[in-house]
Amino acid sequence: MQRTYWKENVIYQVYPPSFKDSNGDGWGDLRGIISKLDYLQELGVGIVWLGPVYQSPFADNGYDISDYYEVHKDYGTMQDLEDLIAGLHERGIKLIMDLVINHTSDEHPWFQQSRTSKDSPFRDYYIWKPPGPDGKEPNNWRSFSNESAWQWDDQTGEYYLRLFDRKQPDLNWEHAPMREEIYSMIAFWLDKGIDGFRLDAINMISKDPDFPDAPEDARHPRGQEFYKNGPRIHEFLHEMYTRVLAEYPEIMTVGEAPTVTMEQVKEYTSPDRQELNMVLLMELMSIGKTPKDPWGVQPWTLKELKDKIVKWYKGAFSEGWYGVYMSTHDHPRMIPHLFGSGEHREAAAQMIGTFLHTIPGTPFVYQGEELGMSNTHYGSIEDYHDAGTIGFYRREIEKGTDGRKVLEQIHHRSRDGARSPMQWSGEAQGGFSTGKPWIPVNENYNEVNAEQQMQDPDSVFSHYKKLIALRKEFPVMVYGDFRLLLTDHDQLFVYTRSLGDERWLIVINFAHQEISVPWEQLENELQADGFHSERQRLLGGRSGKESLWQPYEACIFRLV
Ligand code: GLC
Repeated sequence: MQRTYWKENVIYQVYPPSFKDSNGDGWGDLRGIISKLDYLQELGVGIVWLGPVYQSPFADNGYDISDYYEVHKDYGTMQDLEDLIAGLHERGIKLIMDLVINHTSDEHPWFQQSRTSKDSPFRDYYIWKPPGPDGKEPNNWRSFSNESAWQWDDQTGEYYLRLFDRKQPDLNWEHAPMREEIYSMIAFWLDKGIDGFRLDAINMISKDPDFPDAPEDARHPRGQEFYKNGPRIHEFLHEMYTRVLAEYPEIMTVGEAPTVTMEQVKEYTSPDRQELNMVLLMELMSIGKTPKDPWGVQPWTLKELKDKIVKWYKGAFSEGWYGVYMSTHDHPRMIPHLFGSGEHREAAAQMIGTFLHTIPGTPFVYQGEELGMSNTHYGSIEDYHDAGTIGFYRREIEKGTDGRKVLEQIHHRSRDGARSPMQWSGEAQGGFSTGKPWIPVNENYNEVNAEQQMQDPDSVFSHYKKLIALRKEFPVMVYGDFRLLLTDHDQLFVYTRSLGDERWLIVINFAHQEISVPWEQLENELQADGFHSERQRLLGGRSGKESLWQPYEACIFRLV
């Protein structure tokens, strides 16, 4: 298996609006990030993924780009960005940027030109269609906001396709001149010295050129298998690789590719195919959520989690590669979602840290996860900013649903829950800003903040720091074979990682209560695999008791 830095390092996601504000306007900025580089170095992360900081009207917090070559003034200047790259590199940390190329903003000059006339040289940069025979939308596709994916435009009397918001028209990847523009832009950023990209919604860039109606179950907002992984997707990615990425052999790419089969993961990420380095294992984010209703929750079982980890390991670990995460800017924080924010909050946060750093795949840490930050539950819709959340609230209120009930659903599912400012200290606004933050800070910043946790050897922060340090020291955490033990246990997640003579046993109690560990059975299973069962504790194990494990207790043992 290919050994490389993007498998060995931990990737830390900075969500720029909420990381650190340096000028008191309540909005995070590049100077703010620069002021926290020592923090990132102390944590030990090797790669930072910076969310989009390009010019944008902010209909989707920057995932709607109106100029790929400019830094938004609210984030700072190009010089600030160059200083950030240099500051990270001085500390041995790499920087990858978000590459949003499935769509642009409707305020991008390409779209502005495209919409003026059917003869515009930019017309084919986007996907325009006349109304269908019934005078309605060209087909039945739905967007992520659960409206038609087709947006009517009066100027030329046609619809344009937008899989996301109406202000995010989809680019037309069938049009070669548009692709060339994208490749030039990629080269511009790589020439600045960045180390790669996280490619947003990348498996949606190739659409079925016939634009047929989707089957009923696939036109639903969460079931768009239909327009993902389209017919020319591999050709486009390989072309991007050969035309531009190959010129920069040290860089890395990670694709956001929801709804993929294991065959597709291998196609996207096998090194010999020259497409992407890895895709994100996104399925963990769906645990405890209703599959078709973007606003519902449901009970979950440990079996589901085990099945997903085993499926990806067997399907993609050796031939391809993937990143693992359970927190990001697009979902409420998963740890409080799955385990609550009650008395065992810290234990659960540390347990998930141990889990994510010891299962196969590159770990992604979302800002604040290393502090065990919880979700915000704002009491009024006025405090929410996400367009999808506000649209859902409005539609429900129009239907006559009780406002409190709608807010309750929003608390469980709105992605704004994870977007509250980083909690740096016990100062006003958690030390994020001297002004009024664009979105309210979580009230618990006095108890949960970086300043205090950095001094506490037992904090979530210190635990993450130890895990990251272990990953640097022990290749078994990266390249080791994975094997599940106590397969059917519905509260304990137990597995081995092994590489040559280095053999580790990881025992995790996923339950909210004490559990007795069936050591005899476990030792038999280890011996059947040819492993010794004598163990040394490397990390974790709060209780110190061998058989009775505390709620969310997690321990890494070395088998000797
Ligand atoms: C990705 C981003 C998300 C954004 C969407 C549209 O899923 O992570 O934040 O809204 O793409 O660009």
